[in-house]
Amino acid sequence: MKEVIIGGVGKYIPSKKVTNNHLSEIVDTNDEWIFSRTGIKSRYISTGEDTSYMAAMACEKAIKEAKTSALDIDLIVLATCTPDMFTPSTACIVQSIIGAKNAVAFDISAACSGFIFALDLAKSLMKMHNYKHALVVGAENLSKFIDWQDRSTCVLFGDGAGAVVLSRSESSGLGNSFCKSDGDKWSCITIEGSDIDSPFVDSKTIRESKLKMNGNEVFKFATSTIVKSINKMLEENNLSLEDIDYIVPHQANIRIIEYAAKKLKLPIEKFYTNIHEHGNTSAASIPMALSDMYEEGLLKEGNKIILVGFGAGLTYGATIINWSI
Ligand code: ACO
Repeated sequence: MKEVIIGGVGKYIPSKKVTNNHLSEIVDTNDEWIFSRTGIKSRYISTGEDTSYMAAMACEKAIKEAKTSALDIDLIVLATCTPDMFTPSTACIVQSIIGAKNAVAFDISAACSGFIFALDLAKSLMKMHNYKHALVVGAENLSKFIDWQDRSTCVLFGDGAGAVVLSRSESSGLGNSFCKSDGDKWSCITIEGSDIDSPFVDSKTIRESKLKMNGNEVFKFATSTIVKSINKMLEENNLSLEDIDYIVPHQANIRIIEYAAKKLKLPIEKFYTNIHEHGNTSAASIPMALSDMYEEGLLKEGNKIILVGFGAGLTYGATIINWSI
């Protein structure tokens, strides 16, 4: 079987819903500022669940939807910028929780573009190694890296996980995709990590372990790449916007999505959005959106959907799928 389809989808969100009004008790902000600048009304925040746990719960749902078993999974690719630990990979911890004993498991780091990169990589590996089933996961526990005193970032992000099962098929599901990086802009969004300090270091390098973002710079990058990426997908597939049922963008800011809709002369309804509910969940945002769309009954077999991501790195990418469940 030559092709790869999405056979199941699932998500996990923590039970703690934090509204804009809750945040206004922590930092100097208000619902009006947050909603008008970002479209966000609430987000779900971990009360202790780490990335691996949220990812595993999303994977179990996706496996159930795909009517397969954890033992049939050959590959787990997990995209995150907030892993449980530096090592082992979060994917290996997920493998253990769900009992996917026959899989090879590893993480990739491409921040908010992570799910697009992971999907592309998993599809290629499945074809190269003749794998039958793979899990592709986007999972984030961003709240542990948020500076809860920085109002310019703490209002933007949420936690959660989304996963899909990819399966080999005769019919085409995942179409072509592309992934790009602009490493010269790496400093626009950072979670730096550990200091460089040992008995052999003369001058210690202090690293900031909380998320820092140049919001305006990222905003400019995001608005240009989202439109460019959608157009590239259309051109490469010889399609026009009328052929597309939905565009599922990374949920970073409603104004980025509104800009794209205006530029492409598309009704905003063509873009699926759940940012009002979940905020920006980085690598988890696109698979969580797919899971919500599936649960809401929006997705019909044969629907053509463009997924488009952009984020730290800076990175961006897109893929086209024929919905198959
Ligand atoms: N509440 C109230 N006021 C605030 C808040 C807040 N939460 N945050 C900032 N402000 C103030 C600022 O201090 C500033 O005040 P000043 O004018 O007195 O200095 C004013 O509001 C305007 O701040 P800006 O940063 O210019 O606000 P802007 O309209 O640009 O919105 C935002 C900021 C929402 C971050 C926007 O730039 C954005 O969405 N950027 C893109 C983010 C993105 O796409 N990220 C994706 C990748 S994330 C990843 O990869 C992990």
